[in-house]
Amino acid sequence: MKDFLSNSGASRIKLSNLDQENTAIWTSEKVQQLLDDFENGIIDIKTIKNSPFKDNDPVWKKANIVFEYTPEELEEIRRCKADPVYFASKYAQVMTEDGIQQITLRDYQEEIIRSFKDNRFNILMASRQIGKTVMSGVFIAWYLVFHADKNVLAVANIASTTKEVLDKIKSVFENLPFFLKPGCISNNVMSMKFDNGCRLIGRTTTKNTGIGFTIHVLYIDEFAHINPSYLDFFYRAIYPTISASSNSKVIITSTPNGMNRFYEIYMEALEKKNSYVPLRVDWWQVPGRDDVWKKMTIANLGSEEDFNQEYGLQFFSSDKLLLPSKDLKKIFKLRTDYTVPDWAQPVDNNLLDGFSVHPNFGKLDLDEIRYDNNFYVLSIDTADGLSRDYSVINVFKFAALPIKMLEPVKDFIKKETDIFSLVQVATFRTNQKDINEYCNSLEHLVFRVFNPDKVRLLIELNHKGEYVMDKISKNPDYWPGMLVLSKHTEAAQNWKPGLKLTVTNKIKFCERFKYLAAVNKILPNEFKTVHELGSFGKSSNGTYRSQSGNDDLAMTCVNTSAFFESPNFWEIANEELDRLPKEYLEEVHNRFLNEIYFNQASKYDFGMLNELNAGGVAKRPNTKTRFDEAYIEKYKSSIEKFYGKV
Ligand SMILES: Nc1ncnc2c1ncn2[C@@H]1O[C@H](COP(=O)(O)OP(=O)(O)OP(=O)(O)O)[C@@H](O)[C@H]1O
Ligand SMILES: [Mg+2]
Repeated sequence: MKDFLSNSGASRIKLSNLDQENTAIWTSEKVQQLLDDFENGIIDIKTIKNSPFKDNDPVWKKANIVFEYTPEELEEIRRCKADPVYFASKYAQVMTEDGIQQITLRDYQEEIIRSFKDNRFNILMASRQIGKTVMSGVFIAWYLVFHADKNVLAVANIASTTKEVLDKIKSVFENLPFFLKPGCISNNVMSMKFDNGCRLIGRTTTKNTGIGFTIHVLYIDEFAHINPSYLDFFYRAIYPTISASSNSKVIITSTPNGMNRFYEIYMEALEKKNSYVPLRVDWWQVPGRDDVWKKMTIANLGSEEDFNQEYGLQFFSSDKLLLPSKDLKKIFKLRTDYTVPDWAQPVDNNLLDGFSVHPNFGKLDLDEIRYDNNFYVLSIDTADGLSRDYSVINVFKFAALPIKMLEPVKDFIKKETDIFSLVQVATFRTNQKDINEYCNSLEHLVFRVFNPDKVRLLIELNHKGEYVMDKISKNPDYWPGMLVLSKHTEAAQNWKPGLKLTVTNKIKFCERFKYLAAVNKILPNEFKTVHELGSFGKSSNGTYRSQSGNDDLAMTCVNTSAFFESPNFWEIANEELDRLPKEYLEEVHNRFLNEIYFNQASKYDFGMLNELNAGGVAKRPNTKTRFDEAYIEKYKSSIEKFYGKV
């Protein structure tokens, strides 16, 4: 045996002659030689007595064999151990549509694995077939390889799902290079034991059997589909076995399934009311899935409702989402965690408790905000104390978009004022303050933080909005121009301060918002707002609502569509146009507007007229953009042919 091994396994000695004791020192090279010999028919692996494989099955490493790692392998082990994303990207082979193969992690999958590693409690709400089971399996495989004496329990709603989870984990082990495989002591359908002391156990929640030992990682797949009557048992019998140690973990993954326990845990996680980190993957985040794919899938499934149930991340599958996937994709890309700036920390008073800002806006100090020349629109919604418990101030900066953001929506730029957008920069959201405290916070923001001349307030009047308006108007720095006006009824002739939502105009504002979001005229980006918008839809009875429990942030975005129709928009848009750099406006005209103005019946180039008026000197228009010179030449020559040279 020693001879065979010291000969780098290149021997042709019959392996049945190898000694019975498991004292050989194996290396990857020797293992490979053995496999090659087997492949070439030199040996029969099933009959050898002392192979490095459990039960002579080449996919499993025997427990406790002596293995000598090369320096490169040790380095690789070090890297994989430190970084499960690296491990997954390099070594995780899983069953895909094209057979077992190494997968390339999608962005959201990297995020999921990182979160599983870094956080104790994770809850992933995800659409069908995005790879949630595979990613959890890859993470668990990594965990089992690089830890010692840990127990992982995988649970699912039904036995076949639990088996699928275990099979996916096993498939990762089976396809690891030999030097990364853990030695396998036992390998059963629902359990595995490794020589590093780790154990993998599968259970279904339909089985009333507890677990006799401490669990370090609990993985629950398809949580929302677990029969509620078993959940209590589960919490009684299994949950207590989770190790209290600070590095034990719980991973929950599921598609939504109505308003049940899963919904509760996920919603509380969003509100940071429990320790879970909420993760979410929508169907359109999978490469190749777009609205065409959606249409086809709806056709295959039979109905949009079925699609929403399976893929839509909707707690009410009958709802139709307001925003189409391409716009959701866009705003999800902009999604940002807001932070609390130094000046809003509740050190001395808690006026701004619940206020957070976009990190870029957070770079401004109070003086810079106070003397900022930009306009800000504050969309204000007070809680009704019934279903919607949060009062919100959603702060948007009124800004001319950079050319590169206008380019993709150029077909919708028909006039100069179409370059303006409302970009979300801050949110204030509270369910702790009563209406007076809320008004104090609002006044502090409007009159002490921002420049009141540059603030426009869009106040929804439905609940306590009138009261807020009244309170604001008593402030010594108040001036009437700061209130955004709207028509309070369909038939109204006059503009009045505040916004009155009715069943019909709410639908109109929602539809209008859909358009404004599509053409970049409103750019929500704050994490919770984006999340609410991601599940904001029309229910079967025709009303719009968000399924993420609250929809105050989403509604304050929707309400901004009223601002774009208001006289206040025209007032500040025109003021802004005067302030914008000439070069920028010239570029806007050259790229987006000249053609439109030229093609209009009047043929007036308003930009040019403006310039002529301003300069007081009549100049010829730039004919290049006006006439097709080649055509004029051709026209001239055909006239000459007809009439002779004149
Ligand atoms: N990054 C990837 N590249 C290629 N294929 C992938 C990738 N991630 C997952 N898959 C494949 O996508 C399919 C779905 O994966 P998985 O079963 O883990 O998804 P799921 O979200 O759990 O689905 P279900 O909702 O059906 O439970 C599998 O065939 C898997 O191999
Ligand atoms: Mg799955």
